[in-house]
Amino acid sequence: MKEQPIGIFDSGVGGLTVAHAIKQILPRESIIYFGDTAHLPYGDKSAESIRYYSQRITEFLLEYNSKVVLIACNSASASAFDSLKQEFKNKAIIIDVIDPVVEYLHTRSFKKIGVIGTKRTISSGTYETKIKEKSPSTTVISLATPLLVPMIEEGFIFDDISNAIIRAYLSNEALAGIQALILGCTHYPIIKNQISKIFNFDVEVVDSARIVSLIVKEILDKNDLLNDSGKVKDQFFISDYTTYFEKIARMFFEGEINLKKADIWS
Ligand code: DGL
Repeated sequence: MKEQPIGIFDSGVGGLTVAHAIKQILPRESIIYFGDTAHLPYGDKSAESIRYYSQRITEFLLEYNSKVVLIACNSASASAFDSLKQEFKNKAIIIDVIDPVVEYLHTRSFKKIGVIGTKRTISSGTYETKIKEKSPSTTVISLATPLLVPMIEEGFIFDDISNAIIRAYLSNEALAGIQALILGCTHYPIIKNQISKIFNFDVEVVDSARIVSLIVKEILDKNDLLNDSGKVKDQFFISDYTTYFEKIARMFFEGEINLKKADIWS
């Protein structure tokens, strides 16, 4: 059991931000990553479709004996976490990216928090509901920023086009006075610096990657599941081949990566 990999999935490159943090915090663990590039973006899909995709991907990750299935996608966390836990909790530990961030924010006592994410995540109201449950007096401003995922997946980062789009979204008056901004999409850490700059680095920009990885470490440790074998093998799968995925994956995991196309939808 200890040697089994940590399964991680997202619609595309976004979950690599989480996979990267996992490898930094747990370098002795093997990971198996699935990017569902055939169905990207998830943020525009219905909750039912995302639940269906997430269920099949989880089965795929379990075929590789994943001891943990980490939903490295906010849209899937908001739509499918409960159903995945219900269906697979006896086969693997299921972890989402929203609850750990909500727990973290609870320790920080912010008065006004902004959340940006896909249409699916924002319309689900998951962050707002969960934050309010823990900290009823916190004001939560939620804003869908649907252009950011296609922009990132198309490689528009660190340039004038992405700066203009980010500025157009974040200059929304409702966000005035926020103390923290949750990056409620795992793609967004790729442009975290550009986002922080819009707020003159005065707002704490919170992303899930490191927070969730520390939770994974704690859970593995508690369950005596940390890999102590010294054998590490990382594998990356996508459902549709894109050169951009490979480029970003190499940016995060310097050098060669073991990337294959998995035909799980045919
Ligand atoms: N990175 C995902 C998220 O956290 C999915 C983005 C998308 O495919 O729309 O929501």
